[in-house]
Amino acid sequence: MHQAASPKREHSYLQQAAINVLQNNDMGTFIRPGTYQYPHQWNWDSALIALGLVHVDITRAQHEVRQLLAGQWRDGMLPHVIYHPTEGTSDYFPSADFWQTPKDITPEVPTSGITQPPILATCLRRMHKHHPKAMLPFLREVYPHVLNWHRWLHRARDPEQQGLVAIIHPWESGTDNAARWVHPLARITPRNVPAYQRRDAQHVDASERPFTAEYERFIYLIDQFRRVHYEPAKLYATSPFLVADSFFNAITYRAEKDLREIAMLLGEPTKELDNWLARTQQAFQERLWLEQGYFASFDVRYNVTMYEHDIATFAPLFAGLTSQAQAETLIDNYLLQADFYAPDEHSRYLLPSLAKTSLFYEPRRYWRGPVWIVTNWLVMEGLLDYGYGELANTIKEHSLALLEQGFYEYYDPRDGTPAGASGFSWSAALALELLHE
Ligand code: GLC
Repeated sequence: MHQAASPKREHSYLQQAAINVLQNNDMGTFIRPGTYQYPHQWNWDSALIALGLVHVDITRAQHEVRQLLAGQWRDGMLPHVIYHPTEGTSDYFPSADFWQTPKDITPEVPTSGITQPPILATCLRRMHKHHPKAMLPFLREVYPHVLNWHRWLHRARDPEQQGLVAIIHPWESGTDNAARWVHPLARITPRNVPAYQRRDAQHVDASERPFTAEYERFIYLIDQFRRVHYEPAKLYATSPFLVADSFFNAITYRAEKDLREIAMLLGEPTKELDNWLARTQQAFQERLWLEQGYFASFDVRYNVTMYEHDIATFAPLFAGLTSQAQAETLIDNYLLQADFYAPDEHSRYLLPSLAKTSLFYEPRRYWRGPVWIVTNWLVMEGLLDYGYGELANTIKEHSLALLEQGFYEYYDPRDGTPAGASGFSWSAALALELLHE
C-alpha cells in the first residue's frame, strides 16, 4: 500500500524531480522552457532557470545567462526569444525568419524583435546572495550588459522620460494572453495580416490557448514592427499597441533596485539608477494608482486606463512600489476576497492569474485564470517584504502542492490539475528556489 511520505522525503523527491526536468530540457547551449511547447531560449525564463540552477550547478547557471546575453542587440535590447542553433528542426511559430530583424544591429544568433520582463538583474542579485564568492566575478562580467538593457528600456520605451516604460506587444509582458489585453487588442483592426500557421495548439489543448482573433493581432503587430525595421523611435510612434503595463514596470523597478545593489557591490556609480528609480516611483503613484485601491495599467496609445483586475495588480508588492497602506488595501480588498482571488468551495488554490469576478475568467485558459508558479513566487516575495509572512507561507504551500502534481506551465485553481505545457523549466527552477528558502 502507498505510504504517505514524510514532508522531508517528499521534498527531496520534488527536488530530484525538478533537477531531472532541467536536465531533460538542457539543449547544451541553453535550457528550453518546456519539453514540447517551447524549443528555444526565452528571456525571463532563462533568468529564472539560472536562479534555480545556481542551487545545483553554478557554472551551468552562469552559462545560461551568458547564452541569453549572446542575443543582445547592439542598441542594448535583450530579445524575448533567442533561436540558438539546435539539432533537428523546430516546429515553433513564429520561427526566427518570421521576425525579419535588421542585420545591422542584431547579433549573430537569430532572435525575436521584442523584449520581455527584465527580471534578470533580480535573479542575478539573488544568485549572488546564494553564492557570493562564485558570483561576484560573474556579476562584474555581466553588469555592463544588463545595465545597457535597462538604458535601452528607458531610452526606447520612455522617450519623453515620464517614468514608465511602454510595451508594444502583449508577449513583452510575459503574461501573453492576460485579460488586460482584451480591450487594447480590440481597438486594433488587423489589415493584410501575413499568412501564418499557428503551432501553439499542437502540444496543448486549444481550449487552454489564446483565441484566434487575439492571435491574429499578435501576428499583425509583428508585421507592423517589421515594416519599420524595428527602429525604436518609429515603434514607439506607430505601434498600434502601446501600454504602460503595471506588471512590466513593477518588474523593471524591482530589477533596478537590485541592479543598484549590484552596482554598490562592484563599486560602480548609482546616480543613473537612482534617477530612474525616483522617476518610476513617482509616475507609478501618479499615473497608475486608482481610487478603487489598486494599480492599473494604462493604454498610452489610446490614453485610457485599463481596469481589468488581474495578477499584475499584485506585482507592485514585489517591486516595493506600494505604501504599507496601499499594500493592506490590495491584500484585504482583493487578494483575501473569495470572489476575487482567495480560495472558496469552487477554487482551492492561490493565486488565480485573473480575478474570479472577471467576465474573461476561465480557470484553464492561458493567463485567464490558471495559477502560475512564477507569479505565485513574485507575490509571495512581495508579501514577505510587507510583513505578511503567514500569507506568503500559504502561497508557498499551495505552490509546492501544485508542483507535486508535476512541473507544468500552469494549474487549474479549482482543483490544482495541471494545464498548458509539461516538463516546464521555470516551475522546476522555482521549486528549487522555494525548497531552498
Ligand atoms: C509563455 C509565457 C511567457 C513565457 C513563455 C515561455 O509564452 O506567457 O511568459 O516566457 O511562455 O515559457
